[in-house]
Amino acid sequence: MTARLINGAEVAAQIREELKGRVKACIARGVTPMLNVVLVGEDPASISYVTSKAKGAEEVGMREETVRLPANTAEAELLKVIDGMNRDAKVHGILVQLPLPASIGEKKVLDHILPSKDVDGFHPMNVGKLLIGEPDFMPCTPHGVQQLLVRSGNNPEGKHVVICGRSNIVGKPLAAILVQKKKGANATVTMCHTGTRDVSKYTLQADILVAAMGVPKAITADMVRPGTVVIDVGVNRIVDPSRKTGFRLVGDVDFDAVKEKASFITPVPGGVGPMTVTMLLVNTVRAAERKAGVVSAD
Ligand code: GUN
Repeated sequence: MTARLINGAEVAAQIREELKGRVKACIARGVTPMLNVVLVGEDPASISYVTSKAKGAEEVGMREETVRLPANTAEAELLKVIDGMNRDAKVHGILVQLPLPASIGEKKVLDHILPSKDVDGFHPMNVGKLLIGEPDFMPCTPHGVQQLLVRSGNNPEGKHVVICGRSNIVGKPLAAILVQKKKGANATVTMCHTGTRDVSKYTLQADILVAAMGVPKAITADMVRPGTVVIDVGVNRIVDPSRKTGFRLVGDVDFDAVKEKASFITPVPGGVGPMTVTMLLVNTVRAAERKAGVVSAD
């Protein structure tokens, strides 16, 4: 059996169409949703992410402004930039692109963003709200994974979801999202990590397997039961001299082999990636809707 592809670009386009109407409703009430992005330094992957965020915002009719700062920017300077955005009533969402240069304290910076403008969902207040089942802004990648599952006909309700990876950006919040007693969630969740003995023992019991450990092709075919839904969150650059860029992207799943066992699988690129940016736009529109007095659709 060859798996059916879950096309992230298609699902993302569908959500962006929905967002266009929500943006128009905000504008009709005098509020144009506005996202501010901060990029420190010139990491090529970060530049590429920031560019796609700006393009996505423009596509749905929002305003977007990217502030680019040199890599040697002092932490205090960055905090001042965030202060300005926190105070600016026209700004609804603030995102500081990670990773930051080593000289800047990541936690200090993320904690400095007002929770009401934290469209990344990384502020401890938003993390805590998610954990107690009162989510406000949910982190974009795991929220995107949930939407991909639901909208591809693979609702996680009652399913056993095995997540490989316990990062604060993906693994942990995804577990928190999928165990909620809510529609589109209500799953049984197992989390595997570097301390797990015999990872295969768990992955072979998964109805839905999520790979988010940041290790190229770590999930091999022998770790997957026939019929599993496989979601690959990994984005790894590996050297490929045959490409103009000199690299290509591979996921955390050995795609060619695993697709022969899975029922559904996300490709890399074109799977989870387009969803992350889209869920950022969703969060920004939510923040603007709150300002405009519109009841959110999500
Ligand atoms: N760098 C890689 N992924 C992300 C993300 O989701 N948000 C931010 N702010 N930076 C990132």
